[in-house]
Amino acid sequence: MKTIFLILNLLLFSLILQNHLTSCGLYEPLAQYLNVSESEVPELLSNQKILIEGNRNLTPLLNSTIFGGSYIDIKANKLNINIVDMSQQGIITNNPAMKPYLKLLSFVQVNNSFDQLNFTSNQLNILAKKYNAINYTLGIENDVNNIVIYLSHADDARNQEFIDHAKKLTPTPIIKYSEDNKKEMKFNSFNSSTLMPRQIGTRILGGDGITALNSIGSAGFWVRSGDRVYLATAGHVGPSNDVDFYYVPWGGEITNNTLIGKRVIRRTWEVDIGYIMKTNNNSLAGPIIRNTDNEEFPELQIMGVTDPDTEGTVVCKSGFTTHVTCGKITGIRNTVTKLMDGHIQEIFEINNHVISDMQCSGGDSGGPVYQYLEELLPTVLLVGIEFYSGPGYCLFQPLRVLLLPGMQVITINN
Ligand SMILES: *[C@@H]1O[C@H](CO)[C@@H](O)[C@H](O)[C@H]1NC(C)=O
Ligand SMILES: *[C@@H]1O[C@H](CO)[C@@H](O)[C@H](O)[C@H]1NC(C)=O
Ligand SMILES: *[C@@H]1O[C@H](CO)[C@@H](O)[C@H](O)[C@H]1NC(C)=O
Ligand SMILES: *[C@@H]1O[C@H](CO)[C@@H](O)[C@H](O)[C@H]1NC(C)=O
Ligand SMILES: *[C@@H]1O[C@H](CO)[C@@H](O)[C@H](O)[C@H]1NC(C)=O
Ligand SMILES: *[C@@H]1O[C@H](CO)[C@@H](O)[C@H](O)[C@H]1NC(C)=O
Ligand SMILES: *[C@@H]1O[C@H](CO)[C@@H](O)[C@H](O)[C@H]1NC(C)=O
Ligand SMILES: *[C@@H]1O[C@H](CO)[C@@H](O)[C@H](O)[C@H]1NC(C)=O
Repeated sequence: MKTIFLILNLLLFSLILQNHLTSCGLYEPLAQYLNVSESEVPELLSNQKILIEGNRNLTPLLNSTIFGGSYIDIKANKLNINIVDMSQQGIITNNPAMKPYLKLLSFVQVNNSFDQLNFTSNQLNILAKKYNAINYTLGIENDVNNIVIYLSHADDARNQEFIDHAKKLTPTPIIKYSEDNKKEMKFNSFNSSTLMPRQIGTRILGGDGITALNSIGSAGFWVRSGDRVYLATAGHVGPSNDVDFYYVPWGGEITNNTLIGKRVIRRTWEVDIGYIMKTNNNSLAGPIIRNTDNEEFPELQIMGVTDPDTEGTVVCKSGFTTHVTCGKITGIRNTVTKLMDGHIQEIFEINNHVISDMQCSGGDSGGPVYQYLEELLPTVLLVGIEFYSGPGYCLFQPLRVLLLPGMQVITINN
């Protein structure tokens, strides 16, 4: 009798716990993106973990003349493999490394091999330079087995020649205009006066606003190097190197609040990265990402890092302007060339970055991009930092291109 009571009690407790975990809204931004109820998210995340593992085993097997890349679909629980010649499936299905994943595989007959796409993509980059194209983003997107170019109609005159030549290539690239994709920007409600315990000093969390000389961006993540700590953000935030950065709370006015320190490293070519050396002892560093819109889990803890190497992976970002939003990775090898206006007249070109369909906006630049885990809440894996966006797409750079020798990301484990 007692045992039964105990079991019932345990059951009740686990029900309450489960209910608590699902009703608290940790997964709200993910659930919203995926269009599922929050209670379904943990299962999708556990699918994702296995699908990413499978994709990592798969990638080295993809002969680039026969295959056109791969991508995961966490809702369908499938690892999709683009294949030009359906009779060659055995290369994958007979490989022992793929044995645990066989029932997840889905072969998709496509026309373009990776070699073809890579060739066309290289051609496009050459044409873009030749015809002086501006404000474009392009890269291979496996789920459409093509190259997608993102443009804005505002630049049509300047980009016309590039577009005309691009359309003659094989395969004909897909051109997406930002304007066609305009979604209503949803600003999450927030209350910055809640949930930040009283403390000595100001904690600078990933996603917090940071400002230098009236520009606004977001804090990325903290790194250790030697006996110093540095805050990573996008290089294009703030006009020049060697400027002081200050903290700006979410919803706060863009003014100099707590000093963080001087930016000592700034790059806006190939990679878009800046490192601010913390000099103010009243600014506090830590492995925390701001998630203030969520009352139950106002902070997310960085448990480790991971490489965004799998298309279809669902990621989220935290930033000053649009706070926490989520989306999926749609391409992992992109180039962007962009002319900054306003007070920084500067062209930047960034290669090897990742494109996603998250919603981001000006001011989110520098904010951390991360992946949720289905266990050990509320911890996340850091993936990179956001640096550029248009309506319907958001670009970020993976950690592997951001960290300099000797730098170590500060996590809860180190
Ligand atoms: C979300 O899912 C519901 C069914 O669960 C469906 O009716 C609706 O069209 C979906 N919305 C979007 C935007 O996909
Ligand atoms: C890829 O497949 C082609 C055609 O079957 C073959 O000639 C080539 O050797 C393969 N490449 C590798 C790296 O296996
Ligand atoms: C592949 O090429 C064939 C022949 O050119 C064409 O009919 C078909 O629509 C193409 N398939 C896709 C998915 O583009
Ligand atoms: C794609 O093309 C570039 C430029 O030719 C080359 O450096 C790169 O190795 C190619 N990628 C793959 C995976 O073949
Ligand atoms: C923010 O939260 C505090 C404490 O819960 C509350 O007193 C205050 O009214 C809230 N402010 C807004 C603007 O909702
Ligand atoms: C903020 O600090 C910078 C120096 O770091 C200074 O040039 C600027 O005038 C300050 N802005 C305001 C609004 O105080
Ligand atoms: C800041 O902290 C460091 C290390 O604890 C200390 O050496 C330094 O004197 C402090 N600076 C100020 C201005 O308090
Ligand atoms: C490129 O984008 C910037 C805004 O980011 C805009 O100011 C500029 O007019 C656009 N076009 C050109 C040709 O610079």
